[in-house]
Amino acid sequence: MTRLLLGVTLERICKAVLLLCLLHFIIIMILYFDVYAQHLDFFSRFNARNASRAHPFSNSSRPNGTAPSYGPAGAEAPSPSTKPSTNQSATEKPLQPCQETPPGLVGRLLIEFSSPMSMERVQRENPDVRQGGKYTPPDCLPRQKVAILIPFRHREHHLKYWLHYLHPILRRQKVAYGIYIINQFGEDTFNRAKLLNVGFMEALKDDDEYDCFIFSDVDLIPMDDRNLYRCYEQPRHFAVGMDKFGFRLPYAGYFGGVSGLSKSQFLKINGFPNEYWGWGGEDDDIFNRISLNGMKVSRPDIRIGRYRMIKHERDKHNEPNPQRFTKIQNTKMTMKRDGISSLQYRLVEISRQPMYTNITVEIGRPPPRLARG
Ligand SMILES: *[C@@H]1O[C@H](CO)[C@@H](O)[C@H](O)[C@H]1NC(C)=O
Ligand SMILES: *[C@@H]1O[C@H](CO)[C@@H](O)[C@H](O)[C@H]1NC(C)=O
Ligand SMILES: *[C@@H]1O[C@H](CO)[C@@H](O)[C@H](O)[C@H]1NC(C)=O
Ligand SMILES: *[C@@H]1O[C@H](CO)[C@@H](O)[C@H](O)[C@H]1NC(C)=O
Ligand SMILES: *[C@@H]1O[C@H](CO)[C@@H](O)[C@H](O)[C@H]1NC(C)=O
Repeated sequence: MTRLLLGVTLERICKAVLLLCLLHFIIIMILYFDVYAQHLDFFSRFNARNASRAHPFSNSSRPNGTAPSYGPAGAEAPSPSTKPSTNQSATEKPLQPCQETPPGLVGRLLIEFSSPMSMERVQRENPDVRQGGKYTPPDCLPRQKVAILIPFRHREHHLKYWLHYLHPILRRQKVAYGIYIINQFGEDTFNRAKLLNVGFMEALKDDDEYDCFIFSDVDLIPMDDRNLYRCYEQPRHFAVGMDKFGFRLPYAGYFGGVSGLSKSQFLKINGFPNEYWGWGGEDDDIFNRISLNGMKVSRPDIRIGRYRMIKHERDKHNEPNPQRFTKIQNTKMTMKRDGISSLQYRLVEISRQPMYTNITVEIGRPPPRLARG
């Protein structure tokens, strides 16, 4: 009887041990597969999908050594001083040039226009922006000084959102910049390109160190801070994919929305045309000027150059320009005489607001014979 009982117990123990072994084996297999799969970037890619691959999320993976200039005092000082203990050299520690790829970018951004926005809030959120909408990175030396020019009339509502989103983005990008809205005085037909020419002249009068000019519509917000607002070897088109065009470039020669030229690139094409009144065409003319002068437009990757546009009715006095199609045929003839070299305007007022500089200007009206064909 007891022997039988013993036998049954032994059998149970054996079964239990076998089961445990099996369980162990299964667990090992699962772990092994998991590690292996991650190694193949199979599941991990899924998880990290919206974290940028080029710039992994900030600090966790960045070695300490790459952080800008907290080295020992005087380490970078060109002076032959042999006394690093004087604390003068510590306070005047020279800054390092800003890194080519700014650390601390976050990649894709959530942009929405439904929450209410006020200028007070923008100011509160950007205490380190100086009067006139100017900023300089405190911890590194930027390579360029960028004037951001916004052609403007009656779009205060959009401007608040633009400033709310762009100031922090530009700060993360370590840009030294000033924001200028070029406000067209009066109610005559709008002229975007001429306003931008005025912006170029007035920004340089304000600070002759600007060497890069970015021209942005007030209703366009970048959806990714890796779209770096600076100038490049070639004229830059930033607004590659807008939501209203299904995040695609509408046509190969599109240069609208947000673009940027260095000072020398801008002067090489004689600036922008002054004679495009009303909506459309001027950006194609600018594209032609660039091509005709042997330059080539550069663009960010389509996944990075995404923009959200604030929806709005078409403005009054900015009707589509009926001559735009014939005018862009003639860029080659017109660009030498029509541009920054022939620009005329009357400055009405410059006012420095906390978050931007407001340049109000009278730029005239379309010649009467062109009023309508
Ligand atoms: C990582 O960086 C973010 C901002 O870039 C900061 O808020 C956070 O505290 C940092 N985390 C660590 C562990 O340093
Ligand atoms: C990295 O920096 C953190 C904070 O500055 C510090 O606590 C840590 O010791 C540093 N690690 C190395 C390896 O230097
Ligand atoms: C720097 O030097 C001044 C005197 O020259 C001294 O009063 C001050 O405490 C020093 N500061 C540091 C951080 O050593
Ligand atoms: C990442 O994805 C989650 C949900 O899929 C989303 O809520 C979040 O905003 C995304 N983050 C970024 C930076 O795109
Ligand atoms: C800019 O200045 C003009 C002229 O003073 C003013 O009418 C306009 O409201 C100002 N616009 C903004 C956005 O500050």
